[in-house]
Order: sequence, then C-alpha cells, then structure tokens
Amino acid sequence: MAASGATSLDHQDFGLAGKSAFVTGAGGGIGRAIALSLAKAGVKLALFDLVAANLDETARQVRDVGGEATVTVGDVTDRAAVRAAVAAAAKHYGRLDCAVNNAGVLGPLVPTAQYPIETFQKVIDVNVMGVVHCLQAELELMEAHGAGSIVNIASAAGLIGWAGASAYVTSKHAVVGLTKTAGVEYAAKGIRINSVCPAFVTSPMTSDLMAAEASRNAVLAAVPMGRIGTGEEVANAVKWLLSPLSSFSAGLNLALDGGSTVI
Ligand SMILES: NC(=O)c1ccc[n+]([C@@H]2O[C@H](COP(=O)([O-])OP(=O)(O)OC[C@H]3O[C@@H](n4cnc5c(N)ncnc54)[C@H](O)[C@@H]3O)[C@@H](O)[C@H]2O)c1
Repeated sequence: MAASGATSLDHQDFGLAGKSAFVTGAGGGIGRAIALSLAKAGVKLALFDLVAANLDETARQVRDVGGEATVTVGDVTDRAAVRAAVAAAAKHYGRLDCAVNNAGVLGPLVPTAQYPIETFQKVIDVNVMGVVHCLQAELELMEAHGAGSIVNIASAAGLIGWAGASAYVTSKHAVVGLTKTAGVEYAAKGIRINSVCPAFVTSPMTSDLMAAEASRNAVLAAVPMGRIGTGEEVANAVKWLLSPLSSFSAGLNLALDGGSTVI
C-alpha cells in the first residue's frame, strides 16, 4: 500500500452505503479526507465547520466523487448550534446513523507554567466540550432508534505526553477517557463509540511543524516508520470503526501512529 493510504478498497462501502453521517471539522485536512472517504462509500454527509470557504470546498469535492453533503457553518463550543445542526442532519436524511467528532485545535507549544490560561481554556472548550456537545446531541437521536456508530478523533497525544503541548495533551486524554466511558455506557444499547488516536498527520494543523527542519526532524525521529501519516490513513480507520466490520469494538481508542506510542 502507498504511504498515502489510497487503495483499491477506497470505493468498498464496508456496509455503510446509504447511511447518514455528521462530521465536524470537515473543512480541515483530516475532516476533508474522512468526508471524501465516506462519500466514496456511499454515506450521505452533514458537514460542520467554523470556516465557510473550507467547508464549501469539502462539499464540492464530495459532490465531485458522486457524494451528497449538506453544510452548516458553526462552532462546536456553541451547544445550541451543535444541537440544531445535528437535528437538521437527522431531519434531512431521515435519521442519524454515524458521527465523526473531529473538530479540534492544537494551541501554542509552550511550557506548562507559561501557557496562557485563556488559551488553555479555549483548547479545552473546543477539543473537550466541543466533543461533549456533539456526543450529547448525537446520542439523544441515536438512542431514539437504538442504533448508531460514533468516532471521536482523539490523538496519540491522548495516550502519551508531548512536551510543550499541555493543553492539547490534556484535552486529548479527556477525549480518550470520554470515549471509554460513553463507549461502555452505550455498548448494550446498539450504539458504538470509539476513537482514533493518530500521531502526526499531514494537514494544515501540522504544516508549520513540518516546515521547520528542527521540528520536522524531531517529529520523524519519534516515529518507527520514519514518516508522518496521511488523512486518508485516518479516514480508512474511521470508515472501519463506523462500519459493521468493527462490530465488537466499543470504547476503543485506536492508535494510528507508525509505531510511535509503542516505544
Ligand atoms: N494533524 C495531526 O497531526 C493530528 C494528529 C492527531 C489528531 N489530530 C486531530 O484531528 C482533528 C482534525 O485535525 P486536522 O489535522 O485536520 O486539523 P485542521 O486544522 O486541518 O482541521 C481542523 C478543523 O476543525 C475546525 N474547527 C476548529 N475549531 C472549531 C470549532 N470551534 N468549531 C467548529 N470547527 C472548528 C477548523 O476550522 C478546521 O477546519 C483534530 O481534532 C486534531 O486534534 C490531528
């Protein structure tokens, strides 16, 4: 398989064709890759992001591959906006089958003692409370019809520490804990909640880190595969976790990291 993760399996639907999915952060690097992967599998999409232009570009690319997408511009920290968007998605497609809670921010890289407290709070608001808002709205609808599959986008930074990124690491450990807890709460109710935990992946979030030679070398040295991942590789795992092929997984936090959290 190529490092891009693109394979001849891209158009295999894994039993997802005709399902509906709400995807946040859909204008970003990983969110767009997830949207395109699901669209190729025949999933009908409701895309959500802060940035209208990026969201529209994802929707355009989804339609280019024959997919269907609605778009909502909004902020995951706004609980009412999230609830309205999730309800609108379910109304538009008849019900909500799947969700990918992907919107997130990195925040600055500074030692813990100097970390600006307002920025720390902002990272927690987006990465933790944003996922809580999405989960609550999605679960309410899924519980009503006793089925659903949700994937939270956590991070390898939810499994191990990363010097300089205290707010991000704290937030992603919270997403991992939330996924475990909600995963066991809903496992017997026909709703599966899992997460993926990628290490560094090519996207606008990591472009500065990968552009500077010193930080790029530090990142690559920490990965046994000697490279960073792609959005397509994350999307492949998300597609599997959303699908019936992962039917015995609940509360799982799946590392996608080229081996970096093993050493
Ligand atoms: N890129 C990586 O190396 C990497 C690794 C592990 C985990 N992740 C996680 O993957 C997810 C996607 O990251 P990405 O790499 O695609 O980054 P990105 O910056 O390309 O995309 C993030 C998207 O989320 C949106 N967003 C941010 N705050 C929002 C808010 N308050 N409300 C709604 N939308 C908001 C942004 O507009 C953007 O489109 C994030 O949760 C990130 O933490 C990324």
